[in-house]
Amino acid sequence: MYTSFEQLINDCMQCNKCELCATRTNVVFGTGNPKAEIMFVGEGPGENEDLTGEPFVGRGGKLLDKYLNTIGLDRSKNVYIANIVKCRPPENRDPKPEEQEQCIDWLREQFRLIRPKLVVCLGRIAACRLISQDYKVTSQHGQIVMKGSTAFMGTFHPAALLRNPNNKEAALQDFIEIRKFIEKNNIRV
Ligand code: URA
Repeated sequence: MYTSFEQLINDCMQCNKCELCATRTNVVFGTGNPKAEIMFVGEGPGENEDLTGEPFVGRGGKLLDKYLNTIGLDRSKNVYIANIVKCRPPENRDPKPEEQEQCIDWLREQFRLIRPKLVVCLGRIAACRLISQDYKVTSQHGQIVMKGSTAFMGTFHPAALLRNPNNKEAALQDFIEIRKFIEKNNIRV
């Protein structure tokens, strides 16, 4: 258990708990404001993220920024963005269950130190890991699920929206729900 964010980052940067460490360029720990009350969690770094060390910097990241900005959120100010696994799975394959298992403690520590009031899961992998094992994004997106005093919501992964733009309107509605939740619950942004 960590008491300092700096120490957590430091140790995570040197992680070699699973085989992804052999092929990574950078550990992608997370970005944003560690005092934010809202967190967004994706699946794992892609090529651009691996090269830069920052989550969601490719085309999907630009789309995510657009949705965030639409509801008055900004990755550099009032949210924190992280992933289920911190190192890129080769060829952008899904992170294996054992890789997720090895990595999840870093995210748990991020939750413990940031103490988000709302966690938005971007896509199936994050939602299945953090909300429920059999989570179905197409039918359950946008719904708030309380776990203790933390609210969770699943929505579409930005890369999935680029592949299937038909869901962009539904994703926008989810972000509008996020804004409503912020207002209703006096979440600091
Ligand atoms: N996809 C993710 O799930 N996370 C990233 O950081 C980038 C792409």
